Amino acid sequence: MSQKLESPSLDVLISESAIQQRVRELGRQVSADYHNRELHLVGVLTGAFLFMADLSRALEISPVVHFIQASSYGDSTSSSGNVHLSHALKLAGKHVLVVEDILDTGLTLAKILQDFRSYNPASLEICTLLNKNRSRTVSIMPKYNGFMIEDEFVVGYGLDLAGRYRTLPHIAVIQP
Ligand code: PRP
Repeated sequence: MSQKLESPSLDVLISESAIQQRVRELGRQVSADYHNRELHLVGVLTGAFLFMADLSRALEISPVVHFIQASSYGDSTSSSGNVHLSHALKLAGKHVLVVEDILDTGLTLAKILQDFRSYNPASLEICTLLNKNRSRTVSIMPKYNGFMIEDEFVVGYGLDLAGRYRTLPHIAVIQP
């Protein structure tokens, strides 16, 4: 089922079927890697809510599912640089996989990794649906990447512009 594009300035970048196929592949990969460990998925709200729902259901293992709140963008199309985290997770000794919709500047994941490491998890990895091809002041190396994309502002499949477009089933580019 597709949703009508709400603006002529939105161009489809990654189709719904391409996303769903890649999510299934990632699900198989993660399942194989964690088949003998209890996996704790940590989705980063709000953007990762759809990816988390689909990835967790694509797994052949049964994970423990958590969410944290992270926010940095406000209503603009560029990062504010100030990342706020909110959670009460107990991660000591756990095998943790952070599930993100997009790795852009890396500031959000850098903050999450720094915070999570302080709880001494048994392992800590990242799965991001989108990874922007851009220079970063922080080095973040996701173990699992859905798609590499160019440095464009994208919406859909969880990603928003001022709260809009999150429920599009595909990833779209907003033309400036
Ligand atoms: C977006 C996205 C990631 C983060 C990535 O979240 O969901 O969490 O930005 O950007 P970065 O690599 O430059 O830090 P945002 O702060 O917009 O909040 P949201 O998930 O509620 O939309």
